[in-house]
Amino acid sequence: MVRDILIKGDPLLLKKSHDVTVFDDRLHAIIDDMIETMDAADGVGLAAPQIGILRKIVVIRTPEDGLFELINPTIIEESGEVEDYEGCLSVPDLWGIVKRPQHVVVQAQDRNGQSIEITGENLLARAICHEVDHLKGVLFTDKASSFIDPAELKQEE
Ligand code: CO
Repeated sequence: MVRDILIKGDPLLLKKSHDVTVFDDRLHAIIDDMIETMDAADGVGLAAPQIGILRKIVVIRTPEDGLFELINPTIIEESGEVEDYEGCLSVPDLWGIVKRPQHVVVQAQDRNGQSIEITGENLLARAICHEVDHLKGVLFTDKASSFIDPAELKQEE
């Protein structure tokens, strides 16, 4: 089921999410809804607080790396630095330049509670950092050095 995405200004987006401790059908239904919601909105990632659920659940889908489901993610390694535009489904019609690591390693659990470790480069690294920030109540607008309306960027192309 496609869920409503909370928009910047909603206080839930600024709250810290809690650990997932129960890996049951209810969790799987939330993850499935998050994937459907992300895909319907043509997004690269979605964190549970964006649909009003303050749990550490993240889904990411990049064209190059495919689909990831990260439960209770922790970034354990990061290196390099890339400045690039990024946007957020909770901040429509605004992109900002944000400095992110070029390479990250994230430790997490899968939907059944099994430990997983994912290495991300470039867009995947950026998406992991962006979504993990959501779980801390942090939006990219807190970190961006400058902003642009994506429509302006399209005109330049
Ligand atoms: Co976002």
